[in-house]
Amino acid sequence: MKRPDPNNSKHANDDPALKARNLSKHVSSPEGLLTILDQVSLEVSKGESIAIVGVSGAGKSTLLGLLAGLDVPSEGKVWLGDQELTALDEDGRAALRANSVGFVFQSFHLISSLTALENVMLPLELSGATNAHDAALQAIRTVGLEPRKGHYPHQLSGGEKQRVAIARAFVVGPSVLFADEPTGNLDNRTGENIVDLLFKMNAESGTTLVLVTHDLGLAARCDRILFMDTGRIDRESRGGEDRSPEQMNPAGGESTP
Ligand SMILES: Nc1ncnc2c1ncn2[C@@H]1O[C@H](COP(=O)(O)OP(=O)(O)OP(=O)(O)O)[C@@H](O)[C@H]1O
Ligand SMILES: [Mg+2]
Repeated sequence: MKRPDPNNSKHANDDPALKARNLSKHVSSPEGLLTILDQVSLEVSKGESIAIVGVSGAGKSTLLGLLAGLDVPSEGKVWLGDQELTALDEDGRAALRANSVGFVFQSFHLISSLTALENVMLPLELSGATNAHDAALQAIRTVGLEPRKGHYPHQLSGGEKQRVAIARAFVVGPSVLFADEPTGNLDNRTGENIVDLLFKMNAESGTTLVLVTHDLGLAARCDRILFMDTGRIDRESRGGEDRSPEQMNPAGGESTP
């Protein structure tokens, strides 16, 4: 079982896996220009797990998309390892993502013309792996979906699609795994299996985890919890699996998981 270091010293001398400085995102809306992310800065050490929590509309998915290089900020910079993501063009970001990032979206983003197994094989094939089929099959087994491996996305339940998306994200062995509500559509038992899998990757392969979640039990297992509100990180607390969700409830009255 993973035990967080109270002094966080295991990360103290590392270069960060991920760093963001003054990230803002402005979008146009019927009401005019809207700031949906407001000067967010953060650092995540290699092998660290962090949870981003906050009410619906707080800007969590927006922040995750910028950190993973899926979207570009209006202002600010992002580094993945020692590479400045925000200095790269679309192709450069895509290459960096393919090599070091796994992403589980809130809406899964599976390719509808590919089976579950083929969806998991795709990133391996794109990176030129020779054992794509066997590695993908193993990943499909790990998320408990072997009996559904030949199903197309429209033939899968929401939770099954989510598990395919998770298998696809970890099959390439990413250095950073971003997941937007990885347990959002899952029953407790499947959700726990998925969470155990994420923390196993974290413990065994040193995969850095950046998780957006409404699940305070999951957040409590992460090393750190960042609380977002209206486009800002307004407080932070230390996680650790020994703390109950009640103990880490934010003072600001954010009570709904
Ligand atoms: N392209 C866009 N144009 C206008 N507004 C947007 C755009 N994208 C996001 N928003 C707004 O920005 C805010 C933050 O959105 P975001 O998806 O990051 O929230 P979230 O914290 O992930 O919420 P949830 O928990 O519901 O997923 C929301 O109020 C949303 O309506
Ligand atoms: Mg979201």
